[in-house]
Amino acid sequence: MAKFTVVTGNSSRNLAKRIAQKLNATFIDTDLRMFPDGESKITFRKNPRKSKIVVVQSTPPPVDSNLIQVLSIISKARQFSPEIIVVVPYLGYARQDREFLPGEIVTIKVIANLFKAVGASKLIVVDVHSGIALKHFRISAKNVSAIPELVKYFKKMKLKKPLIVSPDLGGIKRAKEFAKLMHSNFIALKKQRDRKTGQIKIITSDVNVANRDIILVDDMISTGGSIIKAAEFLKKQKCGKIFATCTHALLINNAEKKIKKAGVLKIVSTNTISGKTALVDVSNLISRVVSHA
Ligand code: R5P
Repeated sequence: MAKFTVVTGNSSRNLAKRIAQKLNATFIDTDLRMFPDGESKITFRKNPRKSKIVVVQSTPPPVDSNLIQVLSIISKARQFSPEIIVVVPYLGYARQDREFLPGEIVTIKVIANLFKAVGASKLIVVDVHSGIALKHFRISAKNVSAIPELVKYFKKMKLKKPLIVSPDLGGIKRAKEFAKLMHSNFIALKKQRDRKTGQIKIITSDVNVANRDIILVDDMISTGGSIIKAAEFLKKQKCGKIFATCTHALLINNAEKKIKKAGVLKIVSTNTISGKTALVDVSNLISRVVSHA
């Protein structure tokens, strides 16, 4: 009998199938019906047999629907196994990990409590926005880095003196890890975001990027604002070609088009969120961690 049963939610079907294959696991699909008022109704296609159950579901938009779906799947899976390993490749709400302005709610903590309440035993995420977010979970929570897989992609390209650039200081560790594996160097720009309006500006003055190809690295691209401002700044400094890479490409409101218009040649992301830019597969990374869980 298979050691693992993988149950997929609607947002991660392809990735879940790949993870199941790699784990030699039984794969169980679920059907999702959305009611006109926005409620989700999920049905397991078959009942899991006795094994560890791995629930796979990312939470890109519609974030709240995907969240309630993963919680529902966990609670159902719990009827069949005491051990539920939850893989949320892209964990939404991780940016709401602390009270930045007085009165704000630390929503990731609310979500963390819900995961435990419905019966999750372990959580596995990929490149979570902040380590602080994971500290709110009162179950074992592990972060997997997709950077080695993204680097493999870029190593196959012929780039001119590549420079790894983080669009903000918060991403400096990520850029450093990327640069180390690429055998190149890195810088981090200074980004300022107005916490009330969300407006972004780059406040770095000068950088020496002339004739160097750039890889802009971030954990996620949402509206594209951070990457666009960084690309516009770097272009003014006469850099070479600009590429953007991230683990999670949300690409809200035509972000891809806007990013390309700002001078980015190509966006490369992973399949934590499926889409046109998801050129890097993270199923190997995830299945390796699950197999030791
Ligand atoms: C912020 O600290 C994150 O690492 C990303 O840079 C940010 O969330 C991306 O959002 P957007 O694409 O809307 O600028």
